[in-house]
Formats: sequence, structure tokens, C-alpha cells
Amino acid sequence: MADLRTNFVGIKSPNPFWLASAPPTDKAYNVVRAFKEGWGGVVWKTLGEDPAIINVNGPRYGAIHGPDRRLMGFNNIELITDRPLHVNLQEITEVKRAFPDRAMVVSLMVPCEEANWKAILPLVEATGADGIELNFGCPHGMSERGMGSAVGQVPEYIEMVARWCKQNTRMPVIVKLTPNITDIRYPARAAMRGGADAVSLINTISSITSINLDTFSPEPSVDGKGSHGGYCGPAVKPIALNMVAEIARDRETRDLPISGIGGITTWRDAAEFMALGSGTVQVCTAAMAYGFKIVREMIEGLEDWMDEKGYATTADFVGRASGNVTDWQYLNLNYVTKARINQDLCIKCGRCHIACEDTSHQAITHLVNGVRHFEVIDAECVGCNLCVEICPVENCITMEALPAGSVDPRTGMIVQRDYANWTTHPNNPMAAALNKQQFAAEPMLREPAE
Ligand SMILES: Cc1cc2nc3c(=O)[nH]c(=O)nc-3n(C[C@H](O)[C@H](O)[C@H](O)COP(=O)(O)O)c2cc1C
Ligand code: SF4
Ligand code: SF4
Repeated sequence: MADLRTNFVGIKSPNPFWLASAPPTDKAYNVVRAFKEGWGGVVWKTLGEDPAIINVNGPRYGAIHGPDRRLMGFNNIELITDRPLHVNLQEITEVKRAFPDRAMVVSLMVPCEEANWKAILPLVEATGADGIELNFGCPHGMSERGMGSAVGQVPEYIEMVARWCKQNTRMPVIVKLTPNITDIRYPARAAMRGGADAVSLINTISSITSINLDTFSPEPSVDGKGSHGGYCGPAVKPIALNMVAEIARDRETRDLPISGIGGITTWRDAAEFMALGSGTVQVCTAAMAYGFKIVREMIEGLEDWMDEKGYATTADFVGRASGNVTDWQYLNLNYVTKARINQDLCIKCGRCHIACEDTSHQAITHLVNGVRHFEVIDAECVGCNLCVEICPVENCITMEALPAGSVDPRTGMIVQRDYANWTTHPNNPMAAALNKQQFAAEPMLREPAE
């Protein structure tokens, strides 16, 4: 049986599934029930200084729904905890004492002055918490007060605050990054320079989810006005995965531990973040939408998959996908594919034909000898896989690689066995200048940008 136990920068947990800092971790009542359901750890809802901040008393959430009203994207204008500091600290102490085997990380956000950080760190340390997470991510409300993403968008501030924390506490320091930035490698490198033990990402993305066309107010509407919020849930997963990969394959930060966050709803999502280098994963929206019990599916699903693949521990697959993320210029241009339609599965809806005909390469028939029939015309198919993505029947259309030595009917060229990339392609005006070799070898890691 797979062993899910995790040791993340010295913080131990029975499994890699942590609840992210948010309403699910706002109070002992929640965290205790979450632990009873099996969550391996929590990052407590972000603490600030007293007097506690206040939240709006109206709606604070917006959403994007799928056709079945499943929550695809979630938006909030909530701030950090609105409960007094001493109440949170007392509850953290009690919960950690009652669940010593679970990871208890405390999220913090105070003004960007050393004295303020120095003052709060011993209070958190006294709770017995296992670590702290610095919230440099919230894009709304707190950022207007010089905190949250206002810090996370300035690498020098990240480095400075991380260093203050490392100098003033024995607890491991995790820096939570904002995705509201052009290049995530810069804040990650800054966290590392400041001595942070790890980074976690992503926090929420600045967003307006919808406009009410009767009142012309953004939603959620607070007395007719709205304010941008933070976007999360399944819709942000691709953005988060890319950012995790960027950090994992950057030469400077490749060894920096990562706690992956963003749209994780199933064990599969979690495994993908882990395959890209996340030692633990954090979940918020899925718990808010489906409750704490979802962790059971996550644990069982991950265990089953690891058993099936023969992975004894999570370390056996964490990071295994990072080496397969590369820059476009290193993709193999000799890899040639064609779409294939399984006629037994095809329901003849015609969507593939319309898509390919109108927006791709006119490579799918709709009538053959006067009969409705959908088939790929190899001489036109560029292998783009648009038809695969829009076909309503799973696995009805698949992509098939042409074997080396065969002729591609579209180009009339023989498919080459060797890997060749853009760096030496004859159409690349830079090719000769860039490479004296046949083609540039693909670097395993990305060089830091100049
Ligand atoms: C209502 C709400 C409140 C949040 N509050 C915090 C917070 O106090 N501190 C923090 O670091 N992140 C906060 N987050 C961000 C989450 O911790 C997480 O980074 C983000 O939601 C992405 O994960 P998800 O897609 O699983 O929700 C909040 C998110 C939501 C939805
Ligand atoms: S989209 Fe799929 S099911 Fe519909 S006609 Fe094309 S192959 Fe058949
Ligand atoms: S892979 Fe692209 S080009 Fe080929 S049939 Fe499908 S949509 Fe058309």
C-alpha cells in the first residue's frame, strides 16, 4: 500500500492534502472537523494585527458555472480573518495539541515593517504551530493598504520580509506567491534569496466575474457597487500548473520546495501538481463547494494510482513531469500526427467537420457518396487536435503518430526518425547564427532571464 506520509521542509503530515488559508481554516470548529475527515494539514486563515479587519456585510462571492451549474471559477472579495488575534492563537494552540500529527501552518499578513513582523512571530511560535506562510498574495482590499499582493508584486519586499521572518523565528517560512505578476520566477527567486524554506502558489487572480445587466453593477454587488476580487477554483488550475512548472524548471529555484495550489478538486489534479514538483498541495474552493469529505476520494484515489504505478512514496513521482516542460523552440518538429475517428463510437453529430472546416484545415468529410460520414482526409490534416477537443464522445477521435519512414500525404515528405527543433529549421533566420550543430540540444533547465 502506498505511503502518503509527507515531510515538507520539516513539516510532517500523514498525507500531502492540506486545506489552503481561507474560510475552511478560519476557526477551530472547521479545522477539527477537517482533521477528523482526514486532511493532512491546514494553513490557518491569514492572521493580521488587532484591531481585526472587518469584512463587507453583503455578498462577497461571485462564480462562473458550467452548463450543469458546477462551479468552474470562484471569485471573492473577502479579506483576512476578521476575528481577534488572541482568539485565533488560542484555537490554533488547542487544535495543534489535539492533532499533533497534522501539519499546522499559520498564514500571516502584517504591515511591511520589521517591528510588526517581529512582534507577531513569537505569538505564533508559542502556539506550537509547525510553520508560517507569508500571505503576499491577496489581490483585493489588503493590497490597497500596502499588504498582500502589494508586497508580492515587488521582489525586493518579498526578499526583505522573508529575511526578517527567517531571522526572527525557528519555524519554517513558506512564501505564498501572487499570480498577479508577469513572470512568477522573479518573486520565487526573491523568496529564495530571502531564505524562505518554500513557496506556495497560487493565491487568487484579480478578477471581475460578471456584470448585472439590469443594475450595471459588478457581482458580487454591495449596494450597487462591486470591486475586483480574487479568482480561484478549477478555472485557474492551468495558470497555477504553469507557474509551478516555471519555478520547478528554473535553474535558480529548481530545488526550492513548492506547495501547489489552484483549482485542485480531485486526486488527479493533486497528482498533476505533484508531478510538476509540488511536495504538498492545498485546496480551498473544492472544499467550499463540496465539503471536507472530498479528502477521502483524494486519499484513496492517490493511493490506488500509486499502487497501480508501483510508487511506494510520493517522493517517487514528485517532480517527474518538470523535465518534460520545455520551451516551444525545443519541441520535436519531426513528430507528425493525424486524427483518427472511431466509426463505432461516432454519433455523427458533425461538430468535428464544422470545426475543422470553418476554423482549421478542411480535413474532415461530412458526406461520402451522399451519405453522412465523418472521416479524416490525411492530405489536409495538420494534426492540430481541435477535433479531439470538441468531439462530444470521449476517445472517439484520437491522434496517431505517423511512423518514421512513412510519407506524410499533406507535405509529401518522409517522416524523419530524428528529433529536430526550430533552432536549426531552414525557415529560422537565426538558425545558422545560433547553432553550429545539427540542432541545439534541449536544456533540461531554463536559464534565468537576463
Ligand atoms: C473566500 C476565500 C478567502 C481566501 N482567503 C485567503 C486568505 O485569507 N489568505 C490566503 O493566503 N489565501 C486566501 N484565499 C486563497 C486560497 O487560499 C487559495 O490560494 C486560492 O483560493 C486558490 O485555491 P483554490 O483554487 O483551491 O481555491 C482565499 C480564497 C477564497 C476563495
Ligand atoms: S464530433 Fe465526434 S461524434 Fe461528432 S461526428 Fe465528429 S467524430 Fe463523430
Ligand atoms: S486534427 Fe485538426 S486538421 Fe486534423 S482533422 Fe482534426 S481539426 Fe482537422
